Amino acid sequence: MKTRTIAFFVAFLVFSIPPLGAQSQTPDRLQWFREAKFGLFIHWGVYSMIGREEWARQLLQIPLKEYQYYADNFNPVDFDPDAWAALAKDAGAKYVIITSKHHDGFSIFDSQYTDYDIMKAKYGKDILGPLSSSMKKAGVPLGFYYSIMDWRHPDYLPRRAWETNRSSRGADFGRYMDFATNQLKELVTKYDPAVLWFDGEWEHSNEEQRAFAIGKMLLGMKPTLLINDRLFKREPGYGDFGTPENYVPATGVRNPDGSPRLWEACCTMNWNGWGYNRTETEFHSASQLLRQLIEIVSKGGNLLLNVGPQPDGRIQADFVARLRRMGEWLKTNGEAIYGTTASVFERLPFFGRCTVKGNKLYVHVMGWPADGRIRLPGLKTDVKKTYLLTGPGRPLTFKQTGKDVIITLPERERDPDATVVVVELQGPPEVEPYKIGPERNGRVELPVYLADIQSEMGQRAYLDHFYRTTMLANWQNVNDYPEWVFTTDKAEAFDILASYASMSGGQAGYEVEVDGQKIAAKTESSPSVYFPKTFPVGKVTLGAGEHKLRVRITSIVNNHAMNLEKVVLVPAK
Ligand code: GLC
Repeated sequence: MKTRTIAFFVAFLVFSIPPLGAQSQTPDRLQWFREAKFGLFIHWGVYSMIGREEWARQLLQIPLKEYQYYADNFNPVDFDPDAWAALAKDAGAKYVIITSKHHDGFSIFDSQYTDYDIMKAKYGKDILGPLSSSMKKAGVPLGFYYSIMDWRHPDYLPRRAWETNRSSRGADFGRYMDFATNQLKELVTKYDPAVLWFDGEWEHSNEEQRAFAIGKMLLGMKPTLLINDRLFKREPGYGDFGTPENYVPATGVRNPDGSPRLWEACCTMNWNGWGYNRTETEFHSASQLLRQLIEIVSKGGNLLLNVGPQPDGRIQADFVARLRRMGEWLKTNGEAIYGTTASVFERLPFFGRCTVKGNKLYVHVMGWPADGRIRLPGLKTDVKKTYLLTGPGRPLTFKQTGKDVIITLPERERDPDATVVVVELQGPPEVEPYKIGPERNGRVELPVYLADIQSEMGQRAYLDHFYRTTMLANWQNVNDYPEWVFTTDKAEAFDILASYASMSGGQAGYEVEVDGQKIAAKTESSPSVYFPKTFPVGKVTLGAGEHKLRVRITSIVNNHAMNLEKVVLVPAK
């Protein structure tokens, strides 16, 4: 680790140019991307013909000879680049990233450096050329995904473990990197991309992959080009933006020096895989995707949402419908997304998110509070006026009491996914940090919307609103968990209660962990999956000070643990 860090530092000194580091000296280069907030990712290649994701050759252990059939016969007769550009625009996406060459090594563009490209396939026509023109016409910046890992190139090493009859004799990784470098130059010269989005970087070191030399070369060719962190093995602070994959970081992304980092979460609409999967039946709902976009933007990031077009070039209805719904919402609410910055509130005491533009706050209300009011805690700046972003702009009533602003929402005019309340302030927003602690009756209430939701790749659990209340729903991944930090002012014993809804008699395992002390429990039955009930979990004694509480699931029944509403600590009698 240490030598790696040192090697990294040396490489950085030698090859670094300001735009690649954390402290970019030309922020304008990043401006369009920072403001774009929403991009469309496209995974498309000969693997789409198999219809089992982009890893098909590896997952199904398809020998090269056999895979050649797909490379020869790829023929997307229905590919219509104008239609793709129109779809991106309809979705409200402000840029598009497409796979120029994925791990299988096939180039979907006209490359002079290989025959393993679209020109030698049945289709026989360039794809990235026409796509670049269509996107340019539509005013949508286009970027290229490029996989360093290459399962086909004779000089790429290592071979896949199962490819025992493919000798690596004579292979020369350096020569492979010459090839990759040529292709990258070719991509920039021929198609003038806005972004180079690297991937498949995990099998070699930065030195072997010539990361800094390539970065320098590319920026020399096109100084405004953006490069993601994966060229540099996702080392924190390197590249123009971080790329969390299929999850939303609990509290956004920071540089090693603590400054906010430009980041983009790439996410699939279906459960798994990026390339076309003809057997896929499960998709996140449009509502969930929209709220995910809002959550990401409220944490200062971009969403790069993926589609895997069919082998004929059409994009399946499941994807199109979701993108159109997002576009519809963005058409009227886009002002609250594009060009905004991260929330000024660390947390909000209701299911909602905040984005900011100058002296305006946009409060995205996703769970309508039962009393029809929302509280903006610790907002010190005076409020000028507040109104719904859509509709006639009628002013809403608000009260500025102490350090809180309380806004009364209208009875109707709600958007089922997120209703945006605009709060115009007298000056730049100033907010006091939010502290969770005992209420007047001594109870510590920990609703899920006050938690940081920790997750790893493949997040499945998300907040959803169920008529009267908000719960952490669809919770089936043991790596997803809510975490609260709260303070108490004296040593005290508490009864722990959990309020959740649970299916089919429950019996899923879960654990409440307070300051590292674990209390195991099994879920019990609630009246329905939608309707939570409160159950005792156990007891805990806490000293005065700051505490950390987590709920983790330990076993699942019927693909489900529970819908969690809140944890409550009640002073023990
Ligand atoms: C992963 C996968 C790849 C996909 C990419 C998107 O690295 O290997 O198939 O293209 O993620 O972020």
